[in-house]
Amino acid sequence: MAKYKIAWLTGDGCGQDVMAAARIVLERIGLDADYVPGDIGWEFWCNEGEALPQRTIDLMKGTDCAFFGAITSKGKDKADKELKPELQGKGDNYRSPIVRMRQLLDLYICLRPCKAYPGNPLNYKEGIDIVVFRENTEGLYIGVEYPTVPEEFYAVKGMEKIPRNAAISLRAITPESSERIVRAAFEYARKDKRPKVTAVHKANVIRQTDGVFMEAARKVAAEYPDIPLEDANIDAMGMWLLKNPLNYGVIVTTNLFGDIISDLCAQMVGGLGFGCSGNIGTSYAVFEPTHGSAPKYAGQYKVNPIATILAAKMMLDWLGEKDKAARLEGAVAAVIAEGKVRTYDMGGSQGTLDMANAIAAKL
Ligand SMILES: NC(=O)c1ccc[n+]([C@@H]2O[C@H](COP(=O)([O-])OP(=O)(O)OC[C@H]3O[C@@H](n4cnc5c(N)ncnc54)[C@H](O)[C@@H]3O)[C@@H](O)[C@H]2O)c1
Repeated sequence: MAKYKIAWLTGDGCGQDVMAAARIVLERIGLDADYVPGDIGWEFWCNEGEALPQRTIDLMKGTDCAFFGAITSKGKDKADKELKPELQGKGDNYRSPIVRMRQLLDLYICLRPCKAYPGNPLNYKEGIDIVVFRENTEGLYIGVEYPTVPEEFYAVKGMEKIPRNAAISLRAITPESSERIVRAAFEYARKDKRPKVTAVHKANVIRQTDGVFMEAARKVAAEYPDIPLEDANIDAMGMWLLKNPLNYGVIVTTNLFGDIISDLCAQMVGGLGFGCSGNIGTSYAVFEPTHGSAPKYAGQYKVNPIATILAAKMMLDWLGEKDKAARLEGAVAAVIAEGKVRTYDMGGSQGTLDMANAIAAKL
């Protein structure tokens, strides 16, 4: 029996391409693992009315962690139309399988490292090395939404000013979830010898929910007197990150702000072909590239697999395979620095598997 059992969730679109690339490097590095394929993605929504079938969740529960490619998802009108005729009008609305996975398995940390590897022609500035800790289970992503104002909401002070036809999305933030994500950021900062942690919020306007988040941040920061806590409003943070990205190392924030900030940081180190992510809970984790299914490139083996290969590096780290993780990162860095193999987004003409094979050859 292999040492690890990994749920292998390819998804659809270019998910197939990048997962094939990740497998090349994982096989080459000699990870002792069984990769168990699981169903997820658009075809399962169309044929079964569920993009993340229960059998896949059950499968995940019997594995050490999951590795996920990419999926296609669509807005409500299109999602409903593409359902198999016999499923039309039945079952739930389309729900993002990724958001569901995070909530069901309580994967409360969304960890997104954004590092400018020397020699990457897409780097915004050399030396950027930012790790974003995004709260992954609550905030504006709890999925409690109303197409118009429910009558009972008018019992709440201030609501009388809101017209009935307003759509409403609720934002929920608890002290417990805030504390655990901030603690994860501080633990990382201590281990990785980072000089400070930056908490991002909009507490001057969104007073209640971001008030809870910042109170939790200050409470946890008091346990780490050696690491200063700095804070910034989300809007100013966007500006500061572009103006002076080297000032930042560890950023911690709520769900939606983290979604935005981590894309900004990923773009500064090469964009979608480089953005990797770990969804991490107390005993389970799902690793993935942050990009989507890029339908126009699906099956062409053209997209950059580095994001997915860096997600594999994160998985190795999380499994405790530190040496393999460091070797894999070294191989990625070496191929980028050499600049001989580049996918289209980097200005080159090589394909997904050329990149994977070049990285594997450095291992
Ligand atoms: N985690 C996920 O699976 C995820 C994330 C985002 C979007 N989506 C879904 O993916 C589908 C397509 O969404 P989209 O077009 O907005 O975003 P996308 O990330 O799929 O692609 C946008 C564009 O970015 C470029 N790109 C993406 N990945 C790349 C890579 N690895 N290397 C080089 N270039 C890359 C391509 O030009 C692509 O057309 C939608 O159905 C969307 O809902 C899924």
